[in-house]
Formats: sequence, C-alpha cells, structure tokens
Amino acid sequence: MAKGIKIATIGGGSSYTPELVEGFIKRYDEFPLSELWLVDVETGKEKLEIVGNLAKRMIKEAGLPIDVHLTLDRREALKDADFVTTQFRVGGLDARAKDERIPVKYGVLGQETNGPGGLFKGLRTIPVILGITKDMEELCPNAWLINFTNPAGMVTEAVLRYSNIDRVVGLCNVPIGMEMGIAKLLDVDHSRIRIDFAGLNHMVYGLNVYLDGVSVKEEVIEKLSDPENSSFVKNIDGMGWEPEFIQALDALTCPYHMYYYKSKEMLDKAIESSKTEGTRAEVVQALEKELFELYKNENLNIKPPQLEERGGAYYSDAAVRLITSIYNDKRDIQPVNTMNRGAIASIPAESAVEVSCVITKDGPVPLTVGDLPVAARGLVQQIKSFERISAEAAVTGDYNKAVLALTINPLTPSDKIAKEIIDEMMEAHKAHLPQFFQETVSVN
Ligand code: G6P
Repeated sequence: MAKGIKIATIGGGSSYTPELVEGFIKRYDEFPLSELWLVDVETGKEKLEIVGNLAKRMIKEAGLPIDVHLTLDRREALKDADFVTTQFRVGGLDARAKDERIPVKYGVLGQETNGPGGLFKGLRTIPVILGITKDMEELCPNAWLINFTNPAGMVTEAVLRYSNIDRVVGLCNVPIGMEMGIAKLLDVDHSRIRIDFAGLNHMVYGLNVYLDGVSVKEEVIEKLSDPENSSFVKNIDGMGWEPEFIQALDALTCPYHMYYYKSKEMLDKAIESSKTEGTRAEVVQALEKELFELYKNENLNIKPPQLEERGGAYYSDAAVRLITSIYNDKRDIQPVNTMNRGAIASIPAESAVEVSCVITKDGPVPLTVGDLPVAARGLVQQIKSFERISAEAAVTGDYNKAVLALTINPLTPSDKIAKEIIDEMMEAHKAHLPQFFQETVSVN
C-alpha cells in the first residue's frame, strides 16, 4: 500500500494550530492528509495536549481519516514526513514581550519582526531552524519545509544560506491579508483580486492590483489614505497615508510599512501602549489565556472565531493552499518567500525575497519583476542587508555583526544606542542565545 501523506508541525502547541487543522479539513479532497504530527518542547507540553485534543475533535467532527499524533520527540515526528511546517516561538511570548519592551526604553520601536525585536527573534530562532533542517536531511530528505516562524524573511534567508536543504518556502499571511482586505474594500469576492507582489517579508509592495484582470491600482491607492483601510492585519492599526505620498509612491504598501514611513507616530504609539494596555505580546498573552480556556472545552470541535482576533488570520489558507499546490503541481500563482533567482534585479540572486510565484511540484518559480520602483528600492536593499547580517550573527555568534546589523537598520538612530540595546537584550535573552555565550562557531 502506498504511504499516506505525513505532516510534521513544529510548534504544534501554538494557539494557531486550529487554523491549520481547519485548512487541512477544508482542502481534504485535494490534499488527503493521513498523519498530522504536532510537536512541541517540554515547556509547551500542556498547550500541546489542549490544542492537540481540540485538533482531534475537529477532525472527528469532520469525519476524516486523519490521525493526529502529539509528541515531544521531534525526530519521531520528522521521520518520513512529506511536509514540515514550522510555527514555533523560541522563548514564547515572554521573550516577545522583552523584544517589544526593552527597545522602547531607548526611544526605539519595539516590534516582534522589525528593528531590535526582529534581530533578537532571528538570533534566537535561526540556530533552532538549522537544527531542524539538519534532522530533515537525515530523516525526511525529500520533505518540503514550509516556514511560518518569524522573522520569516530572515529565517528563509538563513535556511537558503546555511542549510543543506533547498526545499524551503517561507510563508506569511500579510499578502493574503492584503488580497482579502482589498477585496473587502472593493466589495468583491477575493478570488477576483490579483496583486503583483514584490519585496521582502513584512516589506512587500503590491506593484499592481487587478480586479478580473483589469488594473484597479489607482482606486485602491486612493483608499489607502483612509486610516480604516491602510492596514490589513489585526496587530497593526492603520494610520492612513498622506495622499500625496501614497499617490507618488504608486504602489500598494503592506501594514508593516507603517513602521518605516510613519516611524515617529508608530514609536509614539508603542511608547504609549507600553504604559497603558501593554505591548502587543502582553495583549496577546491575555488573548491566549482566553483561547486556551476555550480550547479546553470538550464540546468545542471547530476553530473558535476568537482566534480571528490574532494577527495571523488566513494563515491556514495561505499554508494549505501552498502545500496543496505543491502536492498537486497546480502551477497557480501565490506570493511566497523563496530564492530570488534574478526575479528582482537589485536583490542578490541567492537571497530570499517575497514575490508572486508559480507554485509547482518542484517548488515556487518566481515571476520576474524587473526592478522595484526607485522609491522602494533603497529601503528594501537596506532591510535585506539587515536580514543577511543578522542571519550571519545568529549562525556565528559574532557580537560585532549583531551591532552592525542593528546599526544599519533604519529604525535605529545610532551605533551607540544599537550597542546599548543589544547589551540589555543579550542579557535578557541569554538562555536562548548560547551561540553568543560560548566559543565562536564558524560559518559553513
Ligand atoms: C501578522 C504577521 C505575522 C505575525 C502576526 C502577529 O499578521 O504577518 O507574521 O505573526 O501578525 O499576530 P499577533 O496576534 O501575535 O500579534
């Protein structure tokens, strides 16, 4: 008998897991999954149990023959897997709260994937993902790694540069969130909308947007001046763009552009909320408590709508549509993080970019962009340099490289402040940064 499809989900105890399970249930006809292995670490054991049992109830309710396995043994889960999805958070939400709080004390934005927070999340995560890819080489060499773990762009860059696997795709819900948001703005079904995406993760532009094949870019750009319409994710409040700016930019922005083109206002807001309702991590911690209480209810057998209050909405749509297209060699177009291979002229060919791709059984084939508009090009290159140097620091444990990465980040005002922040954050995250507290390792 042919072996059924096996998926290993690392970080399986995440509150987002019901999203993923819902996605597999919805697309079962196209993607007949037979084994779902949810893996977590010892500290996540309780959450894994709770969310894993909900996953089992959801599958039972759907009447599907998918076996759900819960384990703390990553190697057992990876053995002969066809797809490995990663959604883990090293240090949990406590670490995220530090990433968001510490920089603010120095007058620098605290955010989980941008500036100092992005750097430190990368420093904690990259060694772990490289451990996973090593295990994959041995235990499931033909599997695809679908990485959702943030900072997804930097993590994909690190896997492309420092691992021996090339079947990796980085995925984010921002592009799909933009498609959904724009469909809502125009009051049409989202299947009629197509956006030409180009840039980097959390730094992606829509170079054009079509409704039934006809460009509606001007109309959409006009709407982006309205604060109500300028963010498409729950975790970032839109502030609306100055019409003169957004019209001259002549491209759609993603929600994370707020941090770069409205740095002052976003910093002020971060300072304010750190004193009032708490940072986003702290808000999410409260939300998670509620979610896990709901998940415990033995009568619950669907994804609860409260999960949609999280920034990762549509995560399962993005993940499962990608996996389904690889499996079925669909050759449809989806925005993912993959090796540039010349699609964007001003980014190194071997670097990770977030770009519209044709999804085949051999992976994503990026659509040629040519180049980014001149107004966007410099910032994208700068962020790519930040990601690259951060990834190098994560692998080597080179402190100076970490200082360099943070200093060149556009959200950091000086090398001195970069160093001060790094010193405090290194200490705060010491338990998850062994590479900086042991002997230097060399890049392979
Ligand atoms: C966005 C991003 C994700 C991120 C999420 C955070 O949508 O694209 O990369 O993980 O928000 O949401 P949260 O609810 O945890 O703040």
